[in-house]
Parts: sequence; C-alpha cells; structure tokens
Amino acid sequence: MSSTTIEVRGGQPLLRVPARNHRMINSVVCGVSIKRHHRESNHLLSRTSGPSLGFVPTRTDASQFLRGDCNGKFGRFGGKFVPETLMSCLKDLEDEFHFVLSDHDFQEELATALKDYIGRETPLYFAGRLTEHYKNLAGTIGSGPDIYLKREDLNHCGSHKINNALAQAMIARRLGCSRVVAATGAGQHGVATAAACAKLSLECTVFMGSTDIEKQSSNVLSMKLLSAQVKAVEGTFKDASSEAIRNWVGNLDNTYYLSGTVVGPHPSPIMVREFQSVIGKETRRQANQLWGGKPDVLVACVGSGSNALGLFHEFVGDEDVRLVGVEAAGLGLDSGKHSATLAVGDVGVYHGSMSYLLQDDQGQILRPHSVGVGLEYPGVGPEISFLKETGRAEFYTATDQEAIQACMLLSRLEGIIPALEASHALAFLDKLVPTLHDGAKVVVNCSGRGDKDLDTLIQQGVLSSLC
Ligand SMILES: Cc1ncc(COP(=O)(O)O)c(C=O)c1O
Repeated sequence: MSSTTIEVRGGQPLLRVPARNHRMINSVVCGVSIKRHHRESNHLLSRTSGPSLGFVPTRTDASQFLRGDCNGKFGRFGGKFVPETLMSCLKDLEDEFHFVLSDHDFQEELATALKDYIGRETPLYFAGRLTEHYKNLAGTIGSGPDIYLKREDLNHCGSHKINNALAQAMIARRLGCSRVVAATGAGQHGVATAAACAKLSLECTVFMGSTDIEKQSSNVLSMKLLSAQVKAVEGTFKDASSEAIRNWVGNLDNTYYLSGTVVGPHPSPIMVREFQSVIGKETRRQANQLWGGKPDVLVACVGSGSNALGLFHEFVGDEDVRLVGVEAAGLGLDSGKHSATLAVGDVGVYHGSMSYLLQDDQGQILRPHSVGVGLEYPGVGPEISFLKETGRAEFYTATDQEAIQACMLLSRLEGIIPALEASHALAFLDKLVPTLHDGAKVVVNCSGRGDKDLDTLIQQGVLSSLC
C-alpha cells in the first residue's frame, strides 16, 4: 500500500493510508423512492453470512460483520445506492472499518478515550422515585416493575453521539483526511463531532438547518467554541444532511463525512451501530452486577436509530429481552406533523440506502416534525427497519405533549432533565408499565441531557406554567 504524509491543522503530519477516489463528482446521494427506482431484486435477495469477529483482519476482509451481510443488507433493507464514483471511497472506508475493529492500537486508543475523555462507563441508574410514581399510579400492592436509566446524558458533550463521533474521527485521521463534514439536527452530533475533531486536530464543518439553528442556539455556540464552522442550510436536518453529503462528494480527496446515525450507504449503518453498541454491552454487564440477570425490557427513542441500536444490539439474540423503540408522533399521526416513519411510512431509497421512509405517493420525501429536533428525520436506519419487519423489536409512538410531560416528570422526580428526544422513550412508560409484572427490569436509554431544550420548553409555555 502506498503511503504519503499530509499536513493537518496544527501542523501534525499524518500517514495517508489507502488511496482515495480523487475524482470530483457533482451528484448527491439522492432520495429515490422504490416507486421510481429500478427494482434491484437480485441484489436484494442475495444474502451471505460471514464468520464472526475474533481473528486478525486483513484490509480486504469484508466478512466479519456481526449482523447484516457483507453488502450491508439487512434482508431487503440497506445497501449502497450511490453513484459509481463513490464506490471506491466507500470501499476504502469499509476496509478501514473492518481493520480497526480488531486492530489492537485502535481499540486501545478508543478504550482509553471512552474512559478518560467521554467518561464511560455511564451508570445504569435505578430511578427509585420514578419506579415509585408508577407503582402509586397503578395503586398496586405489588412492587411494580423496576425502572433503570442508562445515563448516556452523562457522556462528555451530553449525549450518546460522542461514542460514534470520536471513533469515526479516529478513522478519518487514519484515512488521511484533514477535514470532516457532518450534519446535525439537535446539535448533539454537531457538538460531539466538533469536540472529536478538536481533540484529533481535524478541521470541522457542521451543516445545520436554519430552523434548527434557532431552536438549538446553545449547541451552535458550543460548536463554534470547539472551532467548528457551522453552515446554515435552508430547512431542517434532512436538508443539512443532503448538503453535508454534497460537500463531501465534492471534496473526496481530503474530506470525511462523519455520519451521526445508522443511516446512509454501507458501511455507515453498521459502523455507527458498532461504535454505539458499547451502550448495550455495558448494560448487560451492569444488569448482571445489579440484579444478577438481564433486563426484561429495553426502551429507546428512535430518530434514525443509533441510540436504540446501541442499546439493543447486544441483546438481539436474547429472545427473552423485549426491544421497544419509540418514534415521535409529533402533533399526532393524523396531523401530518410527526416523525413516525415506522408507524406510517413505507419503503424507499434515501441518502444511499433502502429503508422505511416518510414519503408521498410520488416518492417525494416528507418534512418530519418533532418537538425533539433530533428525531426529525424522514427515515430510519435499515437495521431498524429489519428489526420491525422480522418482529424482533416493537415500535410505538409518543406525541410532543407526552414527551414534554415525561421530561417534566423525570426532572421533578429524579433531578435529571432529559433531552426531549429521550423523553419520548420515557413517555412510553405510561403505557408500558401497567402491562409488566412485578419486579420486571426496564432499562430506558436516557440518550441525552435536556439543557439544550430549555428554549423549546419556554416556547412551549412549560416553564411559565411552573412558577
Ligand atoms: C439526545 C438525542 N437522542 C436521540 C437522538 C436521535 O438520534 P438516534 O435515533 O440516531 O439515536 C438524537 C439526535 O440528535 C439526540 O440528540
């Protein structure tokens, strides 16, 4: 393999690892509905399974994914719906990802950063007063289920996003990229990416929808403090994502697109899931220490699916563990203002892979809505679609108002202000808890902290109603 050195910000020379595609192309990885897209049936039907991890990889080894085939297919979902000119770049990334999964130096550096920089492991916290609240509500004489929170809100930068951002920034550096682009909705992924880039001396540009910039102004300031460039894009997160991808495609020679969630062309969904799976691995270990068993139910909000898969992935093979995802019903499923892709969407291709999407009859992407800005994406990751279609995970919805109430409840009872995204998962406890047996162990992924949402809560009239 040829290697050259390049200069990055701060003057630190880095080794350029694989050769990248230097050709400039103008097209973006666009949204194409299955209704308009050619039906790629052979591709969809071929599914190969590879050996599991545990051997020393080579850079050409494409067969060591834990789930999903070597083309990034989950049943009919996933894949790489990209212009041919992008294929070699994605192949380089795939090879590098395979390699680092078992590369001792990378794993050691990541483990140290997870511990000392991000602050892992995050606690599995017994929410005693919340547990008591539901017990009193039901008026049961039994003990009711026990509710635990996986405290991803305690991570550096305030959410689960940093787990993935840091690991991918390390890959970007290994690939010899001096510049990272990303898109953010709630700003959490933007802040995480900006922090990771500052730490690794990479230039960082974050694209953000103009409406989201207004709603999440504290995160915008944080990104700037972390020396990222924040570029406003007309619209919301989906528009910012398209713009970030467009920018990446035009600068392949030095730029890495750092995806914040489990969408996009292969290998992005698998890579992000893998870097987030630390959440579930810790949860298994902690549950074993705390009560000598497994959780009975795992609950997570679903925007595109990275915090949900991060928690679920470890337990997918444990049939006795229920996996519950909660989407944003916004102003109601009939209002047209929601982000409930799995509840009412159908299958199409968007941002480079096939999955459930919110789209109209012409296959045009619909604008999503949620009070939790990070849930405003008109699709979900292909693995999430696969979990729905196979019935392995259950998916429900919570409205804006239900999420706000859940946010207030947790703040009042536990002294924890959850992000409005995570509040959707918490809101579902109202419906879930009465159906569970005494002593059932429920783990809710508290995917982020809610400081960023105070302006939104003020606008919703919540704070004025308090005093
Ligand atoms: C705190 C928090 N939770 C959840 C999400 C939703 O993303 P995902 O479904 O990828 O976890 C976001 C997205 O920005 C977020 O900021």
